[in-house]
Amino acid sequence: MSNKFPNNFIWGAATSSYQIEGASSIDGKGKSIWDTFSHTKGKVFNNQNADIATDHYNRYKEDIALMNNIKLKAYRFSISWPRIFPNGKGKFNKKGLDFYSKLLDELLKKNIKPFITLYHWDLPQKIQNLGGWSNREITKYFSDYSYLIAKKFGDRCKNFITLNEPAVFSTFGYLDGYMAPGLKNKKKYLSCIHNINLAHGFAFKSIKSVSSNIKVGCTLNMAPCLAFSNSSKDISAKITYDAFWNRAYADPMYLGSYPKIIENKIQNLIRQNDMKIINQKNDFIGLNHYQHIRVISDKKNLLGARSVNLKELSKKINIKKNLTTMNWEIVPDAYYHQIMELKNRYNNPNIHLTENGCSFSDKVNKNGKILDVKRVNFLKKYLKAVHKAINNGAKIKSYFVWSFLDNFEWALGYDKRFGIVHVDFKTLKRIPKKSYYFFGELIKKNSIPK
Ligand code: FCB
Repeated sequence: MSNKFPNNFIWGAATSSYQIEGASSIDGKGKSIWDTFSHTKGKVFNNQNADIATDHYNRYKEDIALMNNIKLKAYRFSISWPRIFPNGKGKFNKKGLDFYSKLLDELLKKNIKPFITLYHWDLPQKIQNLGGWSNREITKYFSDYSYLIAKKFGDRCKNFITLNEPAVFSTFGYLDGYMAPGLKNKKKYLSCIHNINLAHGFAFKSIKSVSSNIKVGCTLNMAPCLAFSNSSKDISAKITYDAFWNRAYADPMYLGSYPKIIENKIQNLIRQNDMKIINQKNDFIGLNHYQHIRVISDKKNLLGARSVNLKELSKKINIKKNLTTMNWEIVPDAYYHQIMELKNRYNNPNIHLTENGCSFSDKVNKNGKILDVKRVNFLKKYLKAVHKAINNGAKIKSYFVWSFLDNFEWALGYDKRFGIVHVDFKTLKRIPKKSYYFFGELIKKNSIPK
């Protein structure tokens, strides 16, 4: 069997606004919930924030030149909603639009296809003050924002992702409190689920009203769930977690209904026509995937279930051998199974693999090089899983490595490095890693280099 990827396969890299841009309060940008959260003591590793991050806002040309050196075919980035609408709604900020307009022009000049994510977690603080995702009104604000972006950029960008990982920002933001806005409130969390789904549906309609040629989908973080033990408690925790993590968004958006266990809990929120609005004819499904999830029952957690921590995990596996510095397991088979699950459960959709990658503590050696062999090996294994899924009929259109640059890894700050390009956060100097050159060879050959 050929080891080539399909012709026209899109090799890309991904980033997000808050994680790389910096320039957190210039050119009229409003505050986002991540500005607030990272400036709240004790929320982020070493109290770090992304006020400067990689300073991509000022260095985007240098970054795009680096993309061009390996002939990257596509770049997935997100737009900072509060840069465009400092108050979340109302009057837009022209300077914010100008930045993304210049970014798009620079990408197109280098033949790099832009993929825009409209929401990658940096919600305008002013919208949070109204309840954020737990207030149904957000669906209108998000739809207006989506419309404006499609209107301004739909001529230059043909692929729009509405939301990045609803399961992550709802669960960690409203239930576990580990990410912005840092709430632990089950009632609000349940409202979020429905409002996020609706927001996707309304945004889809807004974008398509500008141009039916723009392809629209949502990016979901999905992963096979495993019960931590054979106990009936853990097995039932796994069933709950699986529904809330993997199907709370995918099922309504792509199949038109909620899993029963969720529907029972949010029935009072569902109005007439809601399910029709949520279930649009999406052009693709975006999959972000890193590892499988081991689920344990936990009465203290508001769902009664959570993913296991490192201490628990060490009872199960040989930790040193199998983990990245996120304490995530290296399990390429889970990637394959997740892709096939998408194919089989959601009627063989077009799939964009919008994020996959790994963090390791990469060091610059005495020759100034970064030989991130572990990342290269990780990529080889995970890309084999992608290739196998394509051979078995999955309609995979693209693969975006997370991430192009080392960046601000949310509550874990700058401690975790995911980039194929190293960033020295003191000097902001970029150094391409071995994995960057590997990626270049991959693109050139359109098959996994030996
Ligand atoms: C995903 C996020 C992305 C990054 C990676 C490591 O969940 O979408 O921003 O943090 O994890």
